Amino acid sequence: MGKINVKPNNDYCPQTLFLYGTYDENGNPDFGLFCWFSYIWEGELGVMCCIGGSKLTKDNIKRSKVFSANLVTEELLPAADYLGCVSGKNPDKMKIDLDIGKGAVLNVPVLDKAPVVFELEVTDIIPKGDADVMLCKIRNVLQDESLSSDESVAQKLARIAPVKTTANTYLGYDGRDLGAWGEPMKKL
Ligand SMILES: Cc1cc2nc3c(=O)[nH]c(=O)nc-3n(C[C@H](O)[C@H](O)[C@H](O)COP(=O)(O)O)c2cc1C
Repeated sequence: MGKINVKPNNDYCPQTLFLYGTYDENGNPDFGLFCWFSYIWEGELGVMCCIGGSKLTKDNIKRSKVFSANLVTEELLPAADYLGCVSGKNPDKMKIDLDIGKGAVLNVPVLDKAPVVFELEVTDIIPKGDADVMLCKIRNVLQDESLSSDESVAQKLARIAPVKTTANTYLGYDGRDLGAWGEPMKKL
């Protein structure tokens, strides 16, 4: 099959979704939704991510240099979509029903319902226009006990059901269409 030339985009390249948890300057938790997240190697596994524009998450990370990255599952999707569509600069953003705990190693808010949570410390911030690329050390991974079972990786993923995204659309681990950005939050 032939190829066509198109403008820069990452459609058809699904990305894993995470909710980044930070504390604001008054110690109140904020969560935002992010997909520009991947991994680096620096003698050990690390994380790289990019936050564009002006966001409370970015302000909080720049101040504290720590955040949590909580894996988004189908169960969390309505809240995750809301947290990705509403700015943290809206003082009412966090007035929703969320089970929020604390990191085991870093001073970061975490989501009790996320089956995998990275506790991240930012070591490098690389400014790029109005975006910032951040390199992070993984100081801890909080992982549900159930992921230590003898099931296959495929069975465990099918059970926890992480959500992917591409082309402004949410997709299930098995490829089901879970709605356009802005739709799942209507179920809240
Ligand atoms: C599906 C989805 C993925 C997103 N991924 C990113 C991302 O990787 N980087 C980014 O800068 N913003 C991303 N956003 C936008 C932020 O989630 C959004 O600006 C949010 O309101 C930030 O919340 P905050 O102001 O509380 O930090 C994404 C939004 C959605 C809906």
